[in-house]
Amino acid sequence: MADKTLVILISGRGSNMEAILDAKLPARVAAVVSNSPDAPGLAIAARRGIPTAVVDHRRHGDRAAFDAALAAEIEKHAPDLVALAGFMRILGPEFVARYAGRLMNIHPSLLPSFPGLHTHRRALEAGVRIHGCTVHFVNPGLDDGPIIVQAAVPVFPGDTEEALAARVLREEHRVYPQAVRWFCEGRMRLAAGKVVIDAARPREQVLLSPAVEK
Ligand code: GRF
Repeated sequence: MADKTLVILISGRGSNMEAILDAKLPARVAAVVSNSPDAPGLAIAARRGIPTAVVDHRRHGDRAAFDAALAAEIEKHAPDLVALAGFMRILGPEFVARYAGRLMNIHPSLLPSFPGLHTHRRALEAGVRIHGCTVHFVNPGLDDGPIIVQAAVPVFPGDTEEALAARVLREEHRVYPQAVRWFCEGRMRLAAGKVVIDAARPREQVLLSPAVEK
């Protein structure tokens, strides 16, 4: 099967992008595009020889204009999949419809709990015992859409937001490459609005953080 073409969208650090680049997937990352010229992930991509581009949201009058400019940049590469990796702009319904079924996002919570920002702080405030991350296809709603894979981590008494974020981030770096791999291998389909993975080991679709540390 021919390698799939990917475009990765970032806004910041780019550690999920790096995890995808490191995963040796049957894919070619054609470009990394950021809405912010200051995103540290751009330099990381460039050092690895990946073409980068900036579509600065501040230079576009409204969301529709930004979305159109972003789509034009993406279309230079005609990707099979667009992966949002810490991309912090909300994309409008037209953009989302254009990329239906080939637009993925990673969110640092066990959706549908805690969509939006500050997920780790909100998880601590809510007193949940289990937190985690979700890779999903993107719908027009905020952090909404068919779930592909989730990983759960424990929340320990006395956890700080930073400690919890770091524990979740380790899992993000496992699940995102896994989801992209399933996509690239053509093992993913939507049935009645849910993602079905045709995986050798179907239970891989649920990832649990290693057992609670003693
Ligand atoms: C990740 O926690 C991601 O889930 C969230 O923003 C963070 C981005 O981190 N949407 P990075 O840029 O991938 O390092």
